[in-house]
Amino acid sequence: MVTRAVITATGSYLPEKVMSNVDLEKIVDTSDEWIVQRSGIRNRHIANDTETAGFMGTKACEKVLEMAGLTGADIDDIIVATTTADKTFPSVAVQIQNNISAPVGVAFDVQAVCSGFVYALGVADSMIQTGQLKRVLVVGTERMSSILNWEDRTTCVLFGDGAGAVLLEAQEGTGDKSDRGIHASVMKANGAYQDILYTDGGVSTTQLSGHIVMHGKEVFKKAVGYLSEVVEDVLVKCDLEQDDIDWLIPHQANIRIIETAAKKLGVSMDKVVVTLDNHGNTSAASIPLALDYANRSGKVKKNDVVLFEALGGGITWGAVVLRF
Ligand code: ACO
Repeated sequence: MVTRAVITATGSYLPEKVMSNVDLEKIVDTSDEWIVQRSGIRNRHIANDTETAGFMGTKACEKVLEMAGLTGADIDDIIVATTTADKTFPSVAVQIQNNISAPVGVAFDVQAVCSGFVYALGVADSMIQTGQLKRVLVVGTERMSSILNWEDRTTCVLFGDGAGAVLLEAQEGTGDKSDRGIHASVMKANGAYQDILYTDGGVSTTQLSGHIVMHGKEVFKKAVGYLSEVVEDVLVKCDLEQDDIDWLIPHQANIRIIETAAKKLGVSMDKVVVTLDNHGNTSAASIPLALDYANRSGKVKKNDVVLFEALGGGITWGAVVLRF
């Protein structure tokens, strides 16, 4: 018998305000055509003053609890992936813990930018397998609009706000491929490329969060290369083949990256969950948002094999394979 970390419920939250590419044409020198052609994005949700990372993360967790038929009192632990926390400290995780009235347990934030959710899942899985966690909320929540330079057309058209969350529960498995739950995860980082995607500020330098600076072409090249490698690694780790994958849920950064990665993996686009067109790049929130959409719309079904892949600032990247 082995312990498996199984996703048993999903939830998400998107701010009410939708900003279209046409709306952006009024802010910066851009066009709907350029944005759609280069990125695949048409709309993104933009938070109002009260829709902070903590607020949105809490709302996503409430949806998870509703789906699971549980209350905050049933939750042991909370791990949050975010780059845009409400405060430098305490963490968003403890805020959510308090907001949903969860009891004393493990609660902390993970910072790996767009790879944050994959990192958080990998950490949660390891802690579940060593018996440290039992029933944990894993959350990705981002208010990217707060760290955008709204005069920089090369970045401000690409990002959006939102939150997604899953309930990850320890369950007994047989140890074979038919088990529900996480089968393998891989997390990577290469700090040599920290200067191709970063914020031009921070607590211990400018005392401000700074704004996103991105060398898009460099990030694009790294994304295609590293993502192809990591999906191969993660499949080898759990002894599964490309043909075993029912759904690829990639980080939603750019449709061209998603299509290239899917092609290299030999997965047709009808097996890829794409929400980028309506969400933009929501960083650590993008995969759990896409998963919740796919779950609630009936695309991803119980027992389907799902592969998550992500790459973000750092450069960080990673992948997770699970049976839903
Ligand atoms: N509207 C119109 N024109 C624009 C815009 C815009 N919003 N932005 C840039 N341009 C112009 C440029 O100025 C350039 O003009 P020039 O040729 O006169 O100099 C031209 O369009 C082409 O610009 P490129 O940067 O070469 O465009 P590219 O095809 O590389 O697409 C993009 C840019 C979409 C950013 C792409 O490189 C990309 O997606 N990169 C990866 C981003 C990514 O994956 N991020 C994930 C991680 S995010 C995170 O971790 C926080």
